[in-house]
Amino acid sequence: MLGFIGGTGPEGKGLALRFAISGLSVFIGSREKQRGAEAAEEIRSQFTEISSDMVAGGTNKEAAIVSDISVICTPYAGHKATLENLKHDLKGKIVVDVVAPLSFKKGSVSAITVEEGSAAEQAQLLLPDSLVVGAFQNASAEDLLIPSQDLECDVIVCSNDQSAKEQVMLLGERIPGVRSIDGGNLQNARYVEQLTALLININKIYNAHSSIKIVGI
Ligand SMILES: NC(=O)c1ccc[n+]([C@@H]2O[C@H](COP(=O)([O-])OP(=O)(O)OC[C@H]3O[C@@H](n4cnc5c(N)ncnc54)[C@H](OP(=O)(O)O)[C@@H]3O)[C@@H](O)[C@H]2O)c1
Repeated sequence: MLGFIGGTGPEGKGLALRFAISGLSVFIGSREKQRGAEAAEEIRSQFTEISSDMVAGGTNKEAAIVSDISVICTPYAGHKATLENLKHDLKGKIVVDVVAPLSFKKGSVSAITVEEGSAAEQAQLLLPDSLVVGAFQNASAEDLLIPSQDLECDVIVCSNDQSAKEQVMLLGERIPGVRSIDGGNLQNARYVEQLTALLININKIYNAHSSIKIVGI
């Protein structure tokens, strides 16, 4: 079971949708039980190809408890407090951090400096008994939410735990069009997170949905 913490936003719902379509059970978490349940119902009713028992919803705590792999999809502003609250429930689990710390000001986007280096490194410090993996920070929610379209992007996966990283790389490739790239250890997650600011600014210039592809490997 994949649990989405802060899964009621576009990124969490988009990833949950793609993984449910790929045949995995998902649980949409929220700060409010009802919102999590409603987001799950929205996915179930819109996408009839997903069997209804594959998508459930409730609180973030429930999502953390029932999941084997938890995906953190809150805004950066809520990242630290959310992880502190769920520390015990996430113990021993793979925690995929999707968060890109960004600031939106005067029509442009910039990356927020994170004291620990990146949101993913902050997560690993807050969750010393979990296996934190940084991934999907560049995957556009808008694209994820159109399941008829392949994603056409690389997902760079960073972790200090090789086995957890390999599991998340396999997970990423369940989404059609995604190629997973081994991004090395967690200290490289900062570059991946910051790249999201650049992609959003490029999107504004070209009125497009940009993504990344690594060549030469
Ligand atoms: N959107 C994209 O295209 C995209 C692409 C790549 C990466 N990301 C990253 O993915 C994460 C989620 O993106 P999003 O666009 O889905 O975000 P979002 O809609 O702003 O937030 C996702 C959910 O987080 C919960 N939340 C909001 N504020 C919170 C707080 N202070 N503390 C705890 N939970 C809070 C809300 O759920 P409840 O109110 O139901 O609790 C909300 O529905 C972000 O960190 C973003 O950087 C997004």
